[in-house]
Amino acid sequence: MSAPSTPNAASEFARGLAGIVAGRTAICSLDGDLRYRGYSIEPLALAGNFEEVAYLLLYGELPTAAELAAFSGRVNAAARSLDPAVTDALERLAVSAPHASPMDALRTGVSMLGQVEGDNLPGSREQLLAQAEKLLGQVPAVLAAWMDLSAGRRIGPWPEGSIAKALLERLTGHVPSKEHVAIFGTTLVLYAEHEFNASTFTARTVVSTGSDMHSGITAAIGALKGPLHGGANEKVLEVLTHIGSADRAEPWVHEQFAAKRVVMGFGHRVYKDGDVRAKLLGRMCREMVRGTAGEAIEDLAERVERLMLSAKSLKPNLDWPAARVYHALGLPVQVFTPIFVVARMSGWTAHIIEQIGDNRLIRPLSLYSGPQPRDYRPLATRG
Ligand code: ACO
Repeated sequence: MSAPSTPNAASEFARGLAGIVAGRTAICSLDGDLRYRGYSIEPLALAGNFEEVAYLLLYGELPTAAELAAFSGRVNAAARSLDPAVTDALERLAVSAPHASPMDALRTGVSMLGQVEGDNLPGSREQLLAQAEKLLGQVPAVLAAWMDLSAGRRIGPWPEGSIAKALLERLTGHVPSKEHVAIFGTTLVLYAEHEFNASTFTARTVVSTGSDMHSGITAAIGALKGPLHGGANEKVLEVLTHIGSADRAEPWVHEQFAAKRVVMGFGHRVYKDGDVRAKLLGRMCREMVRGTAGEAIEDLAERVERLMLSAKSLKPNLDWPAARVYHALGLPVQVFTPIFVVARMSGWTAHIIEQIGDNRLIRPLSLYSGPQPRDYRPLATRG
C-alpha cells in the first residue's frame, strides 16, 4: 500500500484539542462574556424565553412578536404530530428495555425521525431551517413519550404553550406555576448554545462529510451523554444525594481528591475563572428554594463550592446549579441530560446549518505512536 499523500510532520499535538481554534462561527462567542449572536447571555437568560433564543440562534436576529408567534406555532405543531412509526417503535422498545436511559431513547428517536422523514442529504437553507424547527418540537415530544411508555402509561397529549411550560407539565404530570416555567425556561436558554463544545463539534464533523441533519444530531446526542459533558448534571444530583448534608462535605471532597476522582459539576475546558452561566443560575436557584426544604441542598452545595475553591481553585459549571433547579422542580434525575438535549437542539441545528452553508470536510491529522514498520507473516507461519 502506498504511503499517505500528506506527510504527518507534526511532532506535537494538543491533547483533547485544548486551545485549538477549529473553525469560525457567528453563532456564539465566549470571549469574556457569553454571547449568542452578539447578545449577552444575562438578559436572554433572565427573559427565559427559549423559543426567542432558538429563533435568534437559527435565524441570526431576535424575532418580532409576529415572527415568534408563527415560529412557536410551528414548533408546537411538530411536537403534537409525532409519526406513529416512531411512537410504535418506542412502545416496543419500552416493553423490551423499560429501564433504558432516556438519552438512548432520544438518540434512537432522532435516528428514526430521520428515516421516516427521508432525510438523506443536506438540503437548501430553507429546508434545513424547516427541519430544525420540526426537530425542536419533536425532540421534547419524544422524551415525554418515552417517559410515559417506559412507565407503562399511554402517551399523553402535548400541551399548549411554550416548550418550557409544555415539557415541564409533561415530565412532572401537573400544570407548573409561572415561576417554575420561568426558571425552567432560563435553564433551557443557558443550555441552548456553547460554541465548539464536544457534542456541537461532533454534529459539525458529521455533516461536514455531506451527511444529513438527523445523522449529525444523533451523533451529538451520543456525545452529550458522557459524564464529562452533558451527563454531568445527573451525576451532580447523585453526588449531592450521596453526601447528604453540609457537615459531610469536607471528608467527601478530600476522599475524591485522594482517589484522584473528578467532582462532577466543577471545572470547564474554556472557563478557567468560573462559568458565567453557573453564577447566574446558582443565584436564581437559591432564591427559588428560599424558605423550603431545598435550602439544605443549597447549604451543602455552597459548602462543596468553598472546599473546591480553596483546595483546587475550581469553580462550578452550569451543571452544578442546573441539577439543583431540576431537582427542586420535581423532575426525575434521568431526564436531566435529556432536557439539556432539548435545549441544545437549537445550538446544534444552528451549527449544522452554518457548517453546511460554508463546508469543508473536517479531517484533522494524528501523531502516530504505534509499532515501527514490520513485515506481515502469513497466518500459517505465526505460532
Ligand atoms: N474535579 C477535580 N479535579 C478537576 C476537575 C473536577 N471537576 N476538573 C478539572 N480538574 C483538575 C484536573 O484533574 C487537572 O488536574 P491535574 O492538573 O492535577 O491533572 C486540572 O484540574 C486541570 O484540568 P483541565 O485539564 O483544565 O480540565 P479539562 O479541560 O481537560 O476538563 C472537564 C474539563 C472535562 C469539564 C473537567 O473539568 C471535568 O471532568 N469536570 C467534571 C465533569 C463536568 O462537570 N462536566 C461538565 C462540563 S460543562 C457542560 O457540559 C455544561
